[in-house]
Amino acid sequence: MGNPYRYIIVGTAGKGGDWCKATLPRLAELGKAIPAAAVDINADHLQNAKDHLGLSEELCFTDINTAFDKVKADFAIIVTPPDFHELVVDAALAHDMDILSEKPIADNMEACCRIYKKVTSAGKKMAVTMSHRFDQDKQSLEAAVHSGDYGDLDYVIGRFTMALRKFGAWGARFRHEMVDPLLIEGTVHHFDIFRGLTKSDCETVYTVGWNPTWGEYGGDSQALITMQMKNGVKCFWEGANCNAVTLNGWTKDYMRAECENGTIELDARKLRLLNPRIDGEITGKELPLASGEVWKNEWIAEMFCDWLSGEREDHPSRLEDNIQCVALLFAAVESAHTGQPINVQHFLKQHLNN
Ligand SMILES: NC(=O)c1ccc[n+]([C@@H]2O[C@H](COP(=O)([O-])OP(=O)(O)OC[C@H]3O[C@@H](n4cnc5c(N)ncnc54)[C@H](O)[C@@H]3O)[C@@H](O)[C@H]2O)c1
Repeated sequence: MGNPYRYIIVGTAGKGGDWCKATLPRLAELGKAIPAAAVDINADHLQNAKDHLGLSEELCFTDINTAFDKVKADFAIIVTPPDFHELVVDAALAHDMDILSEKPIADNMEACCRIYKKVTSAGKKMAVTMSHRFDQDKQSLEAAVHSGDYGDLDYVIGRFTMALRKFGAWGARFRHEMVDPLLIEGTVHHFDIFRGLTKSDCETVYTVGWNPTWGEYGGDSQALITMQMKNGVKCFWEGANCNAVTLNGWTKDYMRAECENGTIELDARKLRLLNPRIDGEITGKELPLASGEVWKNEWIAEMFCDWLSGEREDHPSRLEDNIQCVALLFAAVESAHTGQPINVQHFLKQHLNN
């Protein structure tokens, strides 16, 4: 193994705090990557980088350009709110760095396409941390569906419903102030889970989105979404932040995959095969979850380092793949705003050609 890669992390509170506490110390333990510097516009938030990454005061910055000019590193890690992702991408590319970014690529389709073009034309590598698809429960459901043991996949239904209606209940204030918080900050994960389960990109999406009078959000916090994938599989999703009770929240999703010869249900991390008996009664057989050393961002970040070193040929959520995820996301947003179904592939082509 060569020398560990050096990174600069931008955004060190909120999710960035988790990166500093868990994801990044593990990369150092593995000898894959070490911190070069940290940046956060709020100096107090840099304490996480000092405490957990061992960075000195001189290597903690409140200005991105100063940090990137002064400190040499191989890749940038972006953990700022989505509307600031592009400016970090610009700084990273100006310093010939690869990029590992929190989802979504950016907060609108135009910015996602600009990032896509800038990164691919610079010939740099970028991956997006779609943490929930790479969690153990969703990977186990994917493995069961793809095993072929239950025949062809017909359709998938997902549910993610939570009681987060009060301002601040969903963490950072930007989530309560932005337009389309549910889809941009939440459903982007579920779109990627559906893409993984169906092994397909989306053809057409139709969204009904709204914010109930009791929802303390700047835009749609509830949605019902229908998707037709390119390979013909149908997907349906119920998402809510403002219900009276949480049924299936983060890491406890409900997903049901209807295959020709088997109904496979994931509910709050329990995976079951539900098949009718001869007498018609429904029985459930628990299926074991997949085994693996790590999941979510820890796994994604490790794969990123292995991709940089050439140990892996590819990254499953590289930018070139993830552009399909944001195309589905922003087509779904457009559908919610217009009340019309949107052809996702035309939507993507149109935006990439602009
Ligand atoms: N994968 C997941 O499960 C998950 C969970 C939460 C958040 N996220 C993602 O992480 C990102 C950050 O979200 P969050 O909840 O941590 O937000 P947050 O507001 O809690 O934290 C963002 C941090 O970035 C800093 N910051 C803001 N603008 C900056 C700039 N221009 N330069 C440097 N620092 C800046 C803020 O001071 C803050 O410390 C988003 O892209 C979000 O979608 C992912």
